[in-house]
Amino acid sequence: AGLHSSAVAKGKLYFGTATDNGELSDTAYVAQLGNTDDFGQLTPGNAMKWDATEPSQNTFSFNNGDVIANLAAKNGQKLRCHTLVWHSQLPNWVSSGSWTNATLIAAMKNHITNVVTHYKGKCYAWDVANEVLNEDGTYRDSVFYKVIGEAFLPIAFATAAAADPSAKLYYNDYNIESPGAKASGAQRIVKLVKQYGAKIDGVGLQAHFIVGSTPSQSSQSTNLAAFTALGVDVAYTELDIRMNLPSTSAQLAQQSADYQSTIAACMGNTRCIGMTIWDWTDKYSWVPSTFSGQGDACPWDSNLVKKPAYAGILAAL
Ligand code: XIL
Repeated sequence: AGLHSSAVAKGKLYFGTATDNGELSDTAYVAQLGNTDDFGQLTPGNAMKWDATEPSQNTFSFNNGDVIANLAAKNGQKLRCHTLVWHSQLPNWVSSGSWTNATLIAAMKNHITNVVTHYKGKCYAWDVANEVLNEDGTYRDSVFYKVIGEAFLPIAFATAAAADPSAKLYYNDYNIESPGAKASGAQRIVKLVKQYGAKIDGVGLQAHFIVGSTPSQSSQSTNLAAFTALGVDVAYTELDIRMNLPSTSAQLAQQSADYQSTIAACMGNTRCIGMTIWDWTDKYSWVPSTFSGQGDACPWDSNLVKKPAYAGILAAL
């Protein structure tokens, strides 16, 4: 059995992967992307972000997102929808607009309502808010925080819930995969949203890790338990484990062990409902263009051949 089949057999909802529109002309890539033995869930890497969906105010574009939503439906795969409120990949009209509290709340609600309504019934989950925290657990200085204050979070969750009551609503961030100030900040956000009476169903742990410095299984398990104790689900949402290039066989073996310990942490928590890798092949990974000199972060190499990491993941499932 493959990754998704094995995860489901152990009670998880899915094992999935991110994908992106530019990759979908690669027929060998698309064939494996649709292999539901390995992948029971897709996340669009860019197509549902604000710059893609509302490039100018109140003009919406769903073409790229629809391609991925339709592909997931055709394949019988769940869809994680990503993401509604984020400081990055934000059109200039949002990031540099001259806002008041009232006008930015109205623009944010309009964005959320239109995008969530368009995909209503199609998203297993929405990443409602993404990366709003600094490393020390304080709020990032985004236009949303500066103009609205922390209330932008419960407002965003309440607006998403009204537009699609059946979608699971997540807070999603990186460097919250082991205990510390930033993970505590994410726990504070869960409580904040609930205190306002808004719905939050889960926390997404991006898990963009580095070979050899991936948090240990026990530290990840302790961390997951701290979230699920608040009454929310958790999911690994963007897992990849990068290394310095050129890779060595020792690094590839360590990468396999690091994937295995991360997947094992999720398997050990009944409210860790699924795992998503941030694309499955090094051919299309975001890592080399973002982290200079690093790469080879995925479980399949750039020739679409399985690396030791694949067996590491499977061993934990
Ligand atoms: C990345 C995409 O993979 C890239 O193609 C894009 O250029 C930048 O964004 N955290 C997130 C994702 O939540 O949306 C990011 O995706 C990776 C980091």
